[in-house]
Amino acid sequence: MKTVLITGVSSGFGKAIAETLAEKGYNVYGTVRNATNESLAYKTIIVDVCKPETIQAGINEVLQQAGKIDVLINNAGFGLTGEMELTDNEDRKRLFDTNIFGYIDMVNAVLPVMRKQKEGKIINIASLAGVFAIPYQGFYSTTKFAINGYSEALHYELIGTGIKVVVVNPGDYKTSFTANRILTPIHEEGRKVFDTVVKAIVKDETKGLDPKHCAKLIAKIIEKNNPCFRYVAGSLEHKLSAFIKRLLPDSWFFKIIESHYNM
Ligand SMILES: NC(=O)c1ccc[n+]([C@@H]2O[C@H](COP(=O)([O-])OP(=O)(O)OC[C@H]3O[C@@H](n4cnc5c(N)ncnc54)[C@H](OP(=O)(O)O)[C@@H]3O)[C@@H](O)[C@H]2O)c1
Repeated sequence: MKTVLITGVSSGFGKAIAETLAEKGYNVYGTVRNATNESLAYKTIIVDVCKPETIQAGINEVLQQAGKIDVLINNAGFGLTGEMELTDNEDRKRLFDTNIFGYIDMVNAVLPVMRKQKEGKIINIASLAGVFAIPYQGFYSTTKFAINGYSEALHYELIGTGIKVVVVNPGDYKTSFTANRILTPIHEEGRKVFDTVVKAIVKDETKGLDPKHCAKLIAKIIEKNNPCFRYVAGSLEHKLSAFIKRLLPDSWFFKIIESHYNM
C-alpha cells in the first residue's frame, strides 16, 4: 500500500485527490492548517507550508506512522488578482511563500526520505496560468510559471535516484479557489477592463469542472511506472490552449487571450 502525502486537503483539489486515493486503498495523509472533527477516509496532519517547522513535524508524524512516503502531491496554494504594480508587498510575499517556497520546502523535506527509499514520485500542481499568463493574475501566473520551471530543473537533479517529478497544469475547476482569491488594487482608469476580465475569470472557474476529474488524472499518474513529465488537466479547450501556445507566435496567442477575456 503506497503512502501519499498531499498538501491542502481542506477543500478543492486536495480534498478530491485525498478522497479518490483513499477509495483506491492508498494510505493517504493530507495537510490542513486547522484541525477538523469531520470523519474522513484519510488522515490529516497540521502543516502550514509557509512554516518550515510545521512541515518537518508533519513529515516526522507520517514517518512514525507509515514508515515511508511514496508520493508527495504539492497542492496547497491560493490566487491573487489585481495589478502587479500596485500589489502590496505583504500580499505578494505571502503568495510567493505559499505557491513557490511552500512547494520547495515540502520537496526539500521529503527528498531525504525518498532518496533513502531509492524511489518516490513528486507531483506538483501548477496551473494553465503557468503555461500562459492570465491577465490581472500576474503574480499568480508568475508563481505557476516558477513551479513549471522548478519542476523541470528538479527532474534533471533527480536522474538516477529513482525519484520521478511530474507537473500538472489544471485549467478551470470549481473549488474554493475563487472565494479564497485575494483582490489587490488597480488603477481607476483601468477599472472597466479589469471588471470585464475578472467577470470572465470567475465565470470560467464557477462553470469549471469538478475537481474529482483532476483527482482521477492524479490517480492514473501515480499508477503509471513511467508517467509523462507534464500534464494539462481540464477540458479539450484547456488542452488545446496549452498546445497552440507552443505553436503560435506570441502576438497571435496574445490576441486569442485578449479576445477570450473581452479586453
Ligand atoms: N481551481 C482552479 O481552477 C485551479 C486551477 C489551476 C490550479 N489550481 C491550483 O490548485 C491548487 C489547489 O487549489 P484549489 O483550487 O483546490 O483551491 P482551494 O479549494 O482554495 O484549496 C486550497 C488549499 O490550499 C490550502 N492552503 C492555502 N494556503 C496554505 C498554507 N499556507 N499552508 C497550508 N495549506 C494552505 C488551503 O487550506 P486552508 O483551508 O487552511 O486555507 C486549501 O486546503 C492551488 O495550488 C491552485 O493554485 C487551481
